[in-house]
Amino acid sequence: MTHFIKQWQNYIVYQIYPLSFMDSNGDGVGDIQGIILKLDYLKNLGIDVIWLSPIYMSPMDDNGYDISDYYQINPMFGTISDFKQLLEKVHRLGMKLIMDLVVNHTSDEHTWFLESKKSKENPYRDYYIWRDQPSEITSVFSGSAWEYDSSTNQYYFHLFSKKQPDLNWDNPLLRLEIYRMINFWLDFGIDGFRLDVIDLIGKDVDRKLLGDGPHLDERLKELYQNCFEGRDVFTVGEMPTLSIPRAAEVTSLQTGTLNMIFQFGHVSLDEVPGRGKWELKQLDLLELKEYFNKMQIGLYEEGWNSLFLANHDQPRAVSRYGNIAFRKESATMLATMLYSMQGTPYVYQGEEIGMTGVKFESLDEYRDIETLNMAKEYLEKGWSKEKTMESIYAKSRDNSRTPMQWSNQPNSGFTTGRPWLNVNPNYHEINVENDLSDTFSIYRYFQKLFQLRKKYSVFADGKFHLLFEDSRDLFIFTRSNDSIEILVINSFSPEPVSVNLDAYSKYQFLLSNNKELNLNASTVLPPYYAGIYISKETQYQL
Ligand code: NOJ
Repeated sequence: MTHFIKQWQNYIVYQIYPLSFMDSNGDGVGDIQGIILKLDYLKNLGIDVIWLSPIYMSPMDDNGYDISDYYQINPMFGTISDFKQLLEKVHRLGMKLIMDLVVNHTSDEHTWFLESKKSKENPYRDYYIWRDQPSEITSVFSGSAWEYDSSTNQYYFHLFSKKQPDLNWDNPLLRLEIYRMINFWLDFGIDGFRLDVIDLIGKDVDRKLLGDGPHLDERLKELYQNCFEGRDVFTVGEMPTLSIPRAAEVTSLQTGTLNMIFQFGHVSLDEVPGRGKWELKQLDLLELKEYFNKMQIGLYEEGWNSLFLANHDQPRAVSRYGNIAFRKESATMLATMLYSMQGTPYVYQGEEIGMTGVKFESLDEYRDIETLNMAKEYLEKGWSKEKTMESIYAKSRDNSRTPMQWSNQPNSGFTTGRPWLNVNPNYHEINVENDLSDTFSIYRYFQKLFQLRKKYSVFADGKFHLLFEDSRDLFIFTRSNDSIEILVINSFSPEPVSVNLDAYSKYQFLLSNNKELNLNASTVLPPYYAGIYISKETQYQL
């Protein structure tokens, strides 16, 4: 149990996808100087930690998740002195900065791979995974995970694009190189890492054991001992394949190797089970509640959660779990639901103003390698253009990668040039400037919610208890510690819903996306209502 909440457990994290955040020099691509311009904006929102998606040298086949030099900054984002300036300003504002650590694979343009390819005898050959014959393992980005290389007559393994060869973590020399690089950035002054698909580094390719593989724990332990132990480092591992009990082990406060991990139980609920991400299924609130309930209970005694709905790989939260006909209501309701649970809140850029997914008419407007590969594969196997586009509209990663909507200016104030990916045409209505000038905006609501989280420790240490488990409209729960209980009410219905809240009639109002309600035997919740009520009278006023 987390009786003693550590400082990092109260942090609020904001993810920046640098390509799409803010362009300071008009080349159509976001950059480090652009981020510097917006730091006060993040501080005012209540952010403690900024997570930067990769800014290292990269041919950008997978937008920077294909690194060709871990020690260099990609010039499209700026220079190492820009990065230093960014880090200094982040620290001056009392925030922290974590980088993305992509060490399951590199770019095929990394010198290690260029060497590795040269011959079977090359000292770097074993930095990657080479076999005489391919197996039937497929790549996450479509097609075989093996690519033939004629010069040495072998195949190399790549779980993502063929320009992202997987590193061979069985090789101790490779592991040392990785630790050296991690320590270089920690010595540089950064505050931690988000570890990309780190559940894959324990894999046994020949036995086809990939996620949460047989060597995962020993690898994480070695990584921890060589890089994180004894340092004040914030770590969050991307681990889609871990079960909830395994998540509790890896993030145990006593014996864990990472502060927290991203689990993905909720992001596959809108797909037909076992058919990959593109075969769509209607989201069922009962399943969503079941997942969060298990996760909240499963990591209460041991471990720590990360709370997220969206990121650069997932569609926009309000379009996926909410209702854009009730955009403001449902965006604030989703935030109330998510950020009132136990764990560390993550905000993906634009989520704080309710940015939505996008529907580009033509495939030519899409940039994401996963989307483009999928379209080719599914059109070839007979899907109609309409069906393919419908899936892309629902699930493409470009939904969340469209440029940040700062204002009503051309290209949403993101760039004075031509953006690398088109801006969502709804920026005239949905933009930061509008939200900042409105006292009841989504941004203002996020601000208040984060203030509330920091004010009451029950948000961090309270036990989660799901109410009205069978309701298909409502997601209501309490969080309670020894002294206080909060009631968190969320309606997922576009219609008013009546509910018996008589047991909470004495609870005091704390926050709502609508108004204070009288809690009684037949309280009527307005569409997408969210409200937080507390068991004890409080002097605290927002
Ligand atoms: C997960 C990252 O979030 C995603 O963007 C990337 O394509 C894959 N890992 C491969 O690095």
